[in-house]
Amino acid sequence: MTTARDKLIVALDAPTAEAGARLAEKLEGHVGAFKVGLENFSAEGPVLARFLTSRSLKVFLDLKFHDIPNTVRAASREAAQLGVAMMNVHASGGRKMMEAAREGADEGARNLGRGSRPLVLAVTVLTSLGPGDLAEAGVTGAPEEVVVRLARLAHEAGLDGVVASPRETAALRNALGNKFVIVTPGIRPASAEVNDQVRIATPAIAIQAGASYLVVGRPITAAADPAAAAARIVSEIEQALG
Ligand code: C5P
Repeated sequence: MTTARDKLIVALDAPTAEAGARLAEKLEGHVGAFKVGLENFSAEGPVLARFLTSRSLKVFLDLKFHDIPNTVRAASREAAQLGVAMMNVHASGGRKMMEAAREGADEGARNLGRGSRPLVLAVTVLTSLGPGDLAEAGVTGAPEEVVVRLARLAHEAGLDGVVASPRETAALRNALGNKFVIVTPGIRPASAEVNDQVRIATPAIAIQAGASYLVVGRPITAAADPAAAAARIVSEIEQALG
């Protein structure tokens, strides 16, 4: 059974593996998983992801692959071989690319001798894009329509779920059913600073809208006591789950 704690993913947006590892050590046992993203991976490669998986901590590798299917298959195999629990690709890379990502993840898990592959998630429309940006790029439809259209495509291509803003979560849950995984960033507890996030929601609102996992960065990583900040969010999730 998934507990409230399992649903909390902390974004380790640290420039060095060392800084990410120190944060993870403070949070071990308090959260469900750790997200390693492009900044850290570009700086130090798989060092932090390997540190975490070697301690049996769950990792969401947030590298948002978008390339030809052959390249994405190979990159996904390598990501899965790191032992990560979740990874992602852009849905706009198309059906064949998403199918290749899943095949690569399957292959990597087999090479690692694991029974289960990482969850492969799709990024639909970056939350930094508004209607004007989409039109300029030749994408037709309101952002919310495009999000649901691409999420359906991801589902048909055999992916496990999407990364989505809390605002889109209820529509996605309705369109794609209960098993589809929805991971939502842009989470701010009622008491926290908003930082540069615009479309935000509290943990309770995101959970009630149907989020499977929440990604939280600065409200935890910049707190004086990260473990205590995580514990407060976990209890808010618990309450929302009823
Ligand atoms: O510090 P904060 O809670 O804003 O961190 C959120 C994390 O989720 C960051 O790693 C950010 O890159 C990521 N993210 C996001 N919004 C998206 C997709 C990913 O904030 N739409």
